[in-house]
Amino acid sequence: MNLTDRVAVITGAAGGIGSALARRFAAEGAAALVLADLDATATGAVAESVGPIARAVAVDVTDEDQVRELVADTERRYGRIDLFCANAGVATGGGVEATDADWDRSWRVNVLSHVYAARAVLPAMLARGEGYLLHTCSAAGVLTAVGDAPYTATKHAAVGFAEWLAITYRDQGVRVSALCPQGVDTPMLADGLAAGHLGARVIAASGAVLTPDQVADAAIAGLAEERFLILPHPEVAAYALRRAQDPDGWQAGLRKLVRRLRGGAGQSEPPPPPPPPAASP
Ligand SMILES: NC(=O)c1ccc[n+]([C@@H]2O[C@H](COP(=O)([O-])OP(=O)(O)OC[C@H]3O[C@@H](n4cnc5c(N)ncnc54)[C@H](O)[C@@H]3O)[C@@H](O)[C@H]2O)c1
Repeated sequence: MNLTDRVAVITGAAGGIGSALARRFAAEGAAALVLADLDATATGAVAESVGPIARAVAVDVTDEDQVRELVADTERRYGRIDLFCANAGVATGGGVEATDADWDRSWRVNVLSHVYAARAVLPAMLARGEGYLLHTCSAAGVLTAVGDAPYTATKHAAVGFAEWLAITYRDQGVRVSALCPQGVDTPMLADGLAAGHLGARVIAASGAVLTPDQVADAAIAGLAEERFLILPHPEVAAYALRRAQDPDGWQAGLRKLVRRLRGGAGQSEPPPPPPPPAASP
């Protein structure tokens, strides 16, 4: 898919990767962009900077009625949705001790919102025999996020759900891509690095920290090829291969990196849980 004359919806568009996708889609000649986020003020500013083809709407993607209305309103205004980008996401920085509320929020934002979006957009896409779902998952969904158990579990679920959609609907014209970046320079990672959170430091030590614009470039390339797995960091493919071929060796390598970053190369037991972290994408 190329973006020329396309109608796209982007959730989590108030900043970071979502706003970079919006700018890049506009540059590619999109016809209309609907930018949805909890943060209406920031999303309005993004829409203004993108130009008249962009429209900002306040939407909580964990509320199915709001997602249904986002889709229905976009279809009423523009006649169709060519591309729905389920990009909103949250990190908690928690381990097993993360509260049920954090587990629940991670599940609802990182997974259930993708289900709500698919339920809402699929009928019209299947009727037209065409449509595209771009789900921002994470390298954590094909690897792990050290220091963030809810993020790891829900991003794995997000990749699994995207793959299920791709297998189920591809032959009816609906294409699906899972965008799985590793470190990206947005508040989600930057706040964690500033707080010295282990998970964020592991990410920074595992490869380049890309700009949101670089991730948007990778998304455009992946959409053009209609590739399921879009990996803006090529090293993630190598890590995933290693993990599949030798899970124990891959885990040992990661534990070694964690020990090194904790400053205790000989340590075999984890230290007490870190202080409440900001994030670990
Ligand atoms: N930053 C990274 O290193 C990184 C790496 C891999 C994947 N990701 C994923 O990329 C996506 C975008 O994250 P980002 O890095 O741009 O961070 P970000 O925090 O700037 O963007 C996330 C956006 O989601 C919005 N959001 C959260 N809950 C919402 C809800 N209930 N309804 C509507 N919007 C909601 C937030 O307001 C925010 O604008 C997320 O899914 C994230 O998990 C980020």
